[in-house]
Amino acid sequence: VPAYAGRLLEREAELAELRAALQDARRGVGGLLLLEGAAGIGKSALLRAAEQLAERQGLRVLRARGGELEREFPYGLVRQLFEPTLAEAEPEDVEAALSGAAAVRPLLLTGQSVPTPPVGAAHFELLHGLYWLTSNLAERSSLLLTVDDAHWGDEGSLRFFDYIARRLEGLPILMALAARPAEPGADARTVGQLAAEHHARVLRPAALSEAAVAELVRSALGQEAATEFCEACHKATAGNPFALRDLLVELQAEGVAPTAAEASAIGKLTPRTLSRAVLARLARVGVSAQELARAVAVLGDGAELRDAGALAGLERAEATEASDVLVEIDILAPGRPLSFVHPLIRSAIYHEILAGERSAAHESAARLLAAREADPDEIAVHLLATDPAGEGECVELLRDAARRAVDRGAADAAVKYLARAWDEPPPGPVRPALLRELLTATFRGGDVEATERFIGPFIAVLANEPDALLDSAEELAYVLYGAGRAEDASSVLARAVECAHARSDYGGALRLDLQRLQADRTPPREIKARLEYYRGAIRAATPAERLWRAAEAWHKVASGDSAAEAANLARRALRGWTFMAEAPQFLPAELIVALLEAEDFDFATQAIDVVDNVARAAGSTPILMVAMGYRADLELRRGQVADALVDASTAIELGRQHGFLPAWPYPVQWIADALVERGELDAAQRELQLAGLDADIPDDVLYTPILASRARLSAARGIHQRALDDLMEVGRREERDGREIIPWRSDAAVLLAGLGKRAHARRLAEVGLERARRWGAAGRIGRALRSLALVDGGDESVLRLQEAVEILAPSQCTLEYMRSLTDLGATLRRLNRRAAAREPLRKALELARTGGALAIAMRAHEELAATGEKLRPLAASGVDSLTPSERRIASMAASGTKNRDIAQALFLTVKTVETHLTNVYWKLGIRSRKELPNALARHERPETGRAAARW
Ligand SMILES: Nc1ncnc2c1ncn2[C@@H]1O[C@H](COP(=O)(O)OP(=O)(O)OP(=O)(O)O)[C@@H](O)[C@H]1O
Ligand SMILES: [Mg+2]
Repeated sequence: VPAYAGRLLEREAELAELRAALQDARRGVGGLLLLEGAAGIGKSALLRAAEQLAERQGLRVLRARGGELEREFPYGLVRQLFEPTLAEAEPEDVEAALSGAAAVRPLLLTGQSVPTPPVGAAHFELLHGLYWLTSNLAERSSLLLTVDDAHWGDEGSLRFFDYIARRLEGLPILMALAARPAEPGADARTVGQLAAEHHARVLRPAALSEAAVAELVRSALGQEAATEFCEACHKATAGNPFALRDLLVELQAEGVAPTAAEASAIGKLTPRTLSRAVLARLARVGVSAQELARAVAVLGDGAELRDAGALAGLERAEATEASDVLVEIDILAPGRPLSFVHPLIRSAIYHEILAGERSAAHESAARLLAAREADPDEIAVHLLATDPAGEGECVELLRDAARRAVDRGAADAAVKYLARAWDEPPPGPVRPALLRELLTATFRGGDVEATERFIGPFIAVLANEPDALLDSAEELAYVLYGAGRAEDASSVLARAVECAHARSDYGGALRLDLQRLQADRTPPREIKARLEYYRGAIRAATPAERLWRAAEAWHKVASGDSAAEAANLARRALRGWTFMAEAPQFLPAELIVALLEAEDFDFATQAIDVVDNVARAAGSTPILMVAMGYRADLELRRGQVADALVDASTAIELGRQHGFLPAWPYPVQWIADALVERGELDAAQRELQLAGLDADIPDDVLYTPILASRARLSAARGIHQRALDDLMEVGRREERDGREIIPWRSDAAVLLAGLGKRAHARRLAEVGLERARRWGAAGRIGRALRSLALVDGGDESVLRLQEAVEILAPSQCTLEYMRSLTDLGATLRRLNRRAAAREPLRKALELARTGGALAIAMRAHEELAATGEKLRPLAASGVDSLTPSERRIASMAASGTKNRDIAQALFLTVKTVETHLTNVYWKLGIRSRKELPNALARHERPETGRAAARW
């Protein structure tokens, strides 16, 4: 072995960069670094050097290395990075490392499970959990994560690298990847793109110069080596360190003298492919060594000698001897387990094996590993490399691995395993079960390609036989809808409903029926008729009964029937709070809407808390987004506008970060509404633009509330005609969809009156009031009364507004209450009843100040000033100048929550939390966390707040 092993020539610049990056990481400025270059150019060597530097500087190093075979290994790199650390740690340290990271348990610890995540969310939970695990480990000491041969990384791990890369900035972590530039056959998203997107430092080690090559030649073959000879070596290898190393091994072995005369002999060795040299070397040793080398190539680096020996058909002693020979000729690295000195050598040997032989060898390898109960994923990797052969055992092993993969949140790997098992093909009787598993994996993984491929068999095999159909209809329908085959989905469900009926399983039938009705966007009237049908058939205190009540509650809301009854039904459906677990796809969100619209805010708060807890326990960002969003909705109705803005911003941030918005656009509505109430109209406009909803709004029920929000924004900007157009469109859509949820008439009437269309305005306002009374919730009635008053104007309107105020005062609909108070005051003032005007205006101003309802506060303040009341200027105290996020974080910090816990609770990074707090201190004019509680409390008594001319 050449003596230069370990010394790196001409890498000073790269080493300096590595040193600087490590230095930054230790200071808490983490980052991503990519070593990129062709095979053998010296990436791994630099990565090793970085690891040594890091260890010397006291960073903790976590390592992983991709393998050509292991590309399909679910979360293979991630597991290499973290498993050893967790395995070595004391139980309490493991717990500390996993705080906020519950979702990674099944992946990284054996025998652990977490609550099943909802559809499509599994990835996010896992990614988020892995992020916290990393960040918790970094809490103890700075980290260097190295991933060699990342171009062979599995999909899941690469997704995690992408996730963490955008969060490294505030962490003491350097993540260093080494990869060849995009390999053919690599996934669309290459490591190079990852690095580019995250502004990684990229190091591209260059080929060695003639001088460096000469130095290496001389240190290997003797100082007397002739210049011509060294030049010939440079030319033959193009300065590639690996090629040179390999050449020198060969020259040494052959005893070539490094003279000028021999230089031409080197020329003859060219053009030399890297693999030829290795194979030539291997050809010179005995058959057992060759067989062993092939066996290790099949098993991959890290193979056990006994496995490799068995695969090569060697006795123990023979195998040991063969491995020594391979070490001697520089093919295997010394030591156990077995590994090649370089991945290029493995590739050379592996690709030399004939395809049929290779497939057989992988099959034997799988059997071997299965016999000693190795990790199913390890076995599956080999099975994926075999040719289909109708082997029942292979099918079973793949199903095993797939089951595990699903549990670990790697549904996409499970799809691959099962698809391969399907190709085997499986014996007839196994097929339905296998397809069933494939369906679940596709459903969980949201794998469109697999869906396309298996739709035929899914329908043919699963939808034809009653047992299979009943068992799979829900998932099958979901997958079919996802693939744009709504009709198929609907008919599958309809057939399943029939089957359930035939078996008198009315609960099951109801569930499937509701899924169909919801997905078909069936109008409430028809749903109602369907529900009647089940009324007598369902037993009390069963999940089916809860589902029935939930659907009834939703129907009442949709048809605007009776708030009290809707709330009552919703409460009963939610009794015991088992509903969230029972109805994964249908209605929990609708029930919250029912409670909000029925203005049962206390129970709505409880329901939202439950959803919030479920989300946090599972680390589920989409569910958390839902909980945050509805909380914002609730707070807005209660007039807690500042808080609503905080929650709405969090919801929209989660939605945007994780790309949920297209599937579930509601957060746009909440953020826009909250911003309008804060008087931040430009910001609200920007939110609509960002979501692509400032021009066309898709014609789907999901978007109707957003249309109404856009109308409110336009109205606030004084663009009345546009606001009116949007509201009338809301009305058209609501009518067409058979819904009575959004009280658009009351708002539209006011706009119509403003545009001079009194008669039309009055008609709408009256119908609005009639509908509101039918619904019977105070907030909606107050709003309708106010609308009618504004349309009418005059003395009459004072009475109407007074009635509205009276109805709203005892309710919790503070936003509406403040609006009515303000309008009442304004109307009285215009009628020159100044003294009478002051009281409602003062009340409105006080409430608006408390809740941070700035738009209303401004209006009430103006009106009050116009009555001649002496007022201090409406000015924000320091606290009022805080942004929503700052305010939320400040109050958590003031109550003693640590930054890390704040970050975990709000799904932010610690760095973001720190930045926000720094801004908070600055705005409040304080120096430290200790002063926070006082500074925030000062604000509770607005009189003492310092004036800051902000708004
Ligand atoms: N600058 C250098 N000076 C001397 N030897 C080097 C240098 N860089 C790499 N080597 C040696 O060359 C060989 C190949 O380098 P290395 O394994 O780092 O390549 P690589 O870029 O990781 O290749 P691959 O893409 O195949 O993984 C190793 O034996 C290494 O020790
Ligand atoms: Mg390498």
